[in-house]
Amino acid sequence: MAFESELLALRREVMEASVPRHVALIMDGNGRWAEARGQPRVAGHREGSESVRAVTREARRVGVEALTLYAFSAQNWERPEDEVEALMDLLREYLLKERAELWDNQIRLQAAGDVERLPERVLGPLRELSAHTATQPTKMTLTLALSYGSREEIVQAARRIVEEGLAASQIDEEAVAARLWTAGLPALDLLVRTGGERRISNFLLWQAAYAELGFVETSWPEFRERELLLCVREFQRRERRFGKTSAQLRGEV
Ligand code: IPE
Ligand code: IPE
Ligand code: MG
Repeated sequence: MAFESELLALRREVMEASVPRHVALIMDGNGRWAEARGQPRVAGHREGSESVRAVTREARRVGVEALTLYAFSAQNWERPEDEVEALMDLLREYLLKERAELWDNQIRLQAAGDVERLPERVLGPLRELSAHTATQPTKMTLTLALSYGSREEIVQAARRIVEEGLAASQIDEEAVAARLWTAGLPALDLLVRTGGERRISNFLLWQAAYAELGFVETSWPEFRERELLLCVREFQRRERRFGKTSAQLRGEV
């Protein structure tokens, strides 16, 4: 009961201030969470998909417009084959199971990354669910970064610019951003990594230029509604200056 009312109070507090439009999460620490319990790493990934559900629901509830989740990096293909296979199975299961929940909450699902590398058993449901959830008005866009690497993303954007024959004078920030896998999403406001590491691991390098960064010790399987709200509340207490001075922001100059 105490826990429930604390959550409600926290949610109310967060919703009274301005909520970040675009939140991205590096969902890290699944393997260590499981190993600390004497379980196989995949048990951590499984518990982590419960966190995906909880965090998605909470983000939608408080009015986040775009939630981007780092689910599988371009570099994660190098993991042992059985772990990659287990992750693909979990992804498929997620895509099949979440259909009604995403639809009922007007959440549009999309992927960012070199998705052609995904096996057909994931790509099929991914394409289907993306198309399905795009057919109604959207309250929140959920982007799963899959087979995603930000350097790879920037390289493919450069290739597209050349292929499309843009003149040097036509290449500006907008032209690049429009060719990233995250094209169309609002500017990234908040990027949080769970699991204790303090690195970006090839995620949203361009997009994070002016995002607020958060690093939390909590492992992803334990990161739920309350933890998300605490990160948002910390974000709300920061001053984003975008190169200006505090006095300028207060309108004193
Ligand atoms: C994040 O958890 C999930 C993926 C990278 C797919 P990890 O599997 O990296 O967990 P740790 O970092 O080894 O604990
Ligand atoms: C980053 O986590 C990728 C995802 C969370 C999907 P990793 O666990 O793969 O990152 P590194 O290898 O520790 O940097
Ligand atoms: Mg990790």
